[in-house]
Amino acid sequence: MTVVGIDKIGFYTPGYVLDLVALAKARGDEPDKYTIGIGQDYQAVIPPNEDIVTMGANAAKQIIDDQDRQKIDMVIVATESGIDNSKSSAMYIQRLLGLSEFSRTIEMKQACYAGTYGLMQARDYVTLHPEKRVLVIAADIARYGLATPGEVTQGGGAVAMIVAANPKILSINHDSVYMSRDVMDFWRPLDRSEAIVDGHLSTDVYKEMFMTLWQRYVQQNHKSIDELSAFVFHLPYTKMGKKALLQILPQATEQQQSLLMNHLQESQRFSRQVGNLYTGSVYLSLLSLLCHASDLQSGDDIAVFSYGSGAEAELYSVTLQSNFEEYVPKTLLHDLLEKRQVVSVATYEDIFKQQLTRSQIDTTTAMRSTGYNLLGIQDGMRIYE
Ligand code: HMG
Repeated sequence: MTVVGIDKIGFYTPGYVLDLVALAKARGDEPDKYTIGIGQDYQAVIPPNEDIVTMGANAAKQIIDDQDRQKIDMVIVATESGIDNSKSSAMYIQRLLGLSEFSRTIEMKQACYAGTYGLMQARDYVTLHPEKRVLVIAADIARYGLATPGEVTQGGGAVAMIVAANPKILSINHDSVYMSRDVMDFWRPLDRSEAIVDGHLSTDVYKEMFMTLWQRYVQQNHKSIDELSAFVFHLPYTKMGKKALLQILPQATEQQQSLLMNHLQESQRFSRQVGNLYTGSVYLSLLSLLCHASDLQSGDDIAVFSYGSGAEAELYSVTLQSNFEEYVPKTLLHDLLEKRQVVSVATYEDIFKQQLTRSQIDTTTAMRSTGYNLLGIQDGMRIYE
């Protein structure tokens, strides 16, 4: 069977960030609760001229070249922060990136899980059509509301991936186990821009689904924890990954336990600085591992646990390809995160409340990114540059 997987990967988050120690003080909480108890240091602040389209296009811009423009004939955008109830965000992204009109463009939704579904669809399509390439984007803005328990777990950004045959970074293995169960742990009714969440229930369901799928994965694939070099998790907050992994860690040898814990920390580093990306979070975790772990080798298998409230989860593995490290955009990502401007709590609150109305052209240029921007909305139509 043709080897198919992630050939290129890019990440984008806007240029503004909130220090969570400052937020803790403003909310009257202990800073250690945020940085240790929850495991977050900073969170992305999304200005009004950015949305899932601009962030998705800005992430994809880093990885698209002329060969991709000729060969991509499917664009899948996974999101739970949709900008229109009918038109797909993938349509705007296809135009902004100058991709061929002879392509399929579609948006997918199932909370934070949809990016994984998109990736699996892309893998299966390319397996059937090895000459094609598929662009998969997972883009979101995690919003719970000012001074809510979920506030410390907000964030935003996008991960873009090109799925192709004979991939340069990693192959996606055919060993998935998955499950769906109708649970009300987190939802966002159509008239709201902030999620409603039963935070403690959501944490319990996440842990329980991971355990159930892990047992199924071991049984189905006859694999043990010692055969996996790392686990990457959907990280709504970084402590969540630790809570999940600790449940199965005693199954590993002592040496393997410390390897997996080191790799977990390396996979959490970007999320600590950005917050929850919803659909993109598990792939940011993967990227963080690839950027920070110096002991990974080609042929290593990494387990990926994707979770989306509501609730749906999938556990599968990927295999690192020869010279994969040459294709991981380390410097670009470090620069992107380093160059962000830290804003005060007052500025963050101000930005949080600024949402463009259905007819408003944004004439301020102060917060515009150097990439794609939302210029305004006219009669409900969004205008991008
Ligand atoms: P909370 O009630 O504010 O916090 O909510 P807490 O009281 O549970 O404390 C959190 C942790 O900090 C605890 O540790 C405390 O002990 C510790 P734990 O028992 O969990 O190990 N702590 C301290 N540690 C050190 N020093 C201190 C201190 N004080 C307390 N001084 C919660 C926290 C995460 C629930 C909340 O922020 C929330 O509701 N977040 C949003 C929901 C969420 O992220 N759920 C995760 C699973 S669901 C999921 O992943 C899907 C999702 O991404 C959405 C989607 O799929 O679309 C959310």
